[in-house]
Amino acid sequence: MKSYEKLLLENKAWAAEKLLDDPKFFQRMASDQTPEFLWIGCSDSRVPAEDITGVQPGEIFVHRNIANMVVHTDLNLLSVLEYAVNVLKVKHIIVCGHYGCGGVKAAMTRHSLGIINKWLRNIKDVYRIHRSEINEIDDNEQRTNRLVELNVMEQVMNLAKTSIVQSAWSKNQRPHLHGWVYGLKDGILNPIMSMPPGTHIDEIYEYDDL
Ligand code: CO
Repeated sequence: MKSYEKLLLENKAWAAEKLLDDPKFFQRMASDQTPEFLWIGCSDSRVPAEDITGVQPGEIFVHRNIANMVVHTDLNLLSVLEYAVNVLKVKHIIVCGHYGCGGVKAAMTRHSLGIINKWLRNIKDVYRIHRSEINEIDDNEQRTNRLVELNVMEQVMNLAKTSIVQSAWSKNQRPHLHGWVYGLKDGILNPIMSMPPGTHIDEIYEYDDL
């Protein structure tokens, strides 16, 4: 059997099992989605949002990219954010990074990776802002992991800088923003930052006419 054929076979078994547990499962799924969470995570295959949080289909709206970035010119991210906040009306947005992130590691080197350079430059900017703290750490792995944490915090900040989030905060008192880091070595999610609705950020980024 070819590797991709196994995926199709496993899918049939999964669908049959779901039906066995709950005969109305797909009927319900097909009618609507009302997820409470938006997940912005890394594309890394080892960090599957639904598996590590134990949720069922329909419970998390997911956006993943290299190194879980919130980039203001990324139409893909912005569309997901707009839809999740204003249509699905999610209550929580979780930016989830992971220790040992390849994207963060690559951004700390001087290797050119073609078009990926442009994406990684956003992480290099975070590195530059926190350069003195990062460079004081001797251990390579620890240095990467600290930048992973700082990058998650910076991306949560980037969410708070958007008019989408600020407008929902002032009109609807949601969503609550969270920054988490997943451990590949122990499977544990480490909450490192939380920003409740209405949190004041640097006034340079605050809009007062939303
Ligand atoms: Co990663």
